Amino acid sequence: MNTKWLKTIGASLALTLAAGTASAETLRVVTDPSFVPFEMMDQETGEMIGFDMEIIAEVAKRAGFEYDLNTMDFNGIIPALQTGNVDIAIAGMTITEAREEIVDFSNPYYDSGLRLLVPKGNDDIKVLADLEGKKIGSKIGSTSYDFLMKNLDDNSGVTPYPGSADMYLALMSGAVDAVFYDAPNVGYFARTKGSGKVQTVGPMYEGQQYGIALKAGSEWLDEVNAALAAMMEDGTYKTIYEKWFGPMPEDK
Ligand code: ARG
Repeated sequence: MNTKWLKTIGASLALTLAAGTASAETLRVVTDPSFVPFEMMDQETGEMIGFDMEIIAEVAKRAGFEYDLNTMDFNGIIPALQTGNVDIAIAGMTITEAREEIVDFSNPYYDSGLRLLVPKGNDDIKVLADLEGKKIGSKIGSTSYDFLMKNLDDNSGVTPYPGSADMYLALMSGAVDAVFYDAPNVGYFARTKGSGKVQTVGPMYEGQQYGIALKAGSEWLDEVNAALAAMMEDGTYKTIYEKWFGPMPEDK
């Protein structure tokens, strides 16, 4: 820690002398184009907004880095971290053992799980077992897709979609009977664009936690964790949480 501080001060001084102004390191951060309400494009400004976007902005401020934000398909994010093309990813990404072998995860910043979404008024599908032989939409490279592959005897009807917009469109047009995906995402969709057309059903499956992913061995891991902890401690996390999800449960 101390040496790091000295280095930072040293670097800042050098920069101040050289350029007349101190500047922080600029990291390459990626997110996915659409995973409501974690990341989505503000149609008016073209800016990415959402829970994750506010979390990473606050983390960067506290950890002391600047960043360039780009979007890429969720499926490409882990490979991009692996090759070192990006430094940090925040995309409602579930911490899994398999991914932990490739990237470094921050401490968890959001408790999640998986849930079923069906057309409004559909009474045939209530729990996972009802999906046998049905047409189901899921997302390529996501934990929900893996879960379906593992837990359905007949998973021949599962279609992995590259983007969630296509996946939801498939449900509303009747191309699939159900969507199985992250609970906060299907819940938000059901309350907004899908309101009156779709409904969530059944229990929450596979409790999971989201983490910020960093390229393996990143020197920023401790700072990112410290920033998250401080935000949870001083109420900043709660303010951001409640802006996007409503009242925060007590045990968070
Ligand atoms: N939580 C799931 C996973 O990690 C899905 C995340 C999808 N995120 C996104 N930004 N599209 O596999």
